Amino acid sequence: MLAVYCGAASVSSCINEAGDPPGGTTGGGTGLDFTLDLNDNAYSSLKSVGNYLIVDKVVVARVSEDAFAAVTLICTHENRTKIIYKGSGFYCTEHGAKYTITGEGLNSDGKKGIKAYNTEFTDSTIRVYA
Ligand code: FES
Repeated sequence: MLAVYCGAASVSSCINEAGDPPGGTTGGGTGLDFTLDLNDNAYSSLKSVGNYLIVDKVVVARVSEDAFAAVTLICTHENRTKIIYKGSGFYCTEHGAKYTITGEGLNSDGKKGIKAYNTEFTDSTIRVYA
């Protein structure tokens, strides 16, 4: 079961429990690889630049019209699952660690950086993979 959380500054609560994995997760541990269809209501908030979703403990953000970024939900500061996308980078709401869209640390709490994933955007489909 995947938990899907919508994120936008103006949305106070928008939480879905998606019953099925998004289009094809790979089995077996380390090979994170899934696709999201923007025409699916569960993921349609990613049609807007600046929004993000949390899917399978990955924060997927639309950083521009034609680009996405994805990092793990788990902060490297104290392992809290509180990463969001904010402005032009990723941010931990626990103590304020900041990361670039490629996962580099931007302040002392974020100095270890964070695991970033590859993204591929084709038509209305986003692939996120390790
Ligand atoms: S756990 Fe993320 S900043 Fe401390």
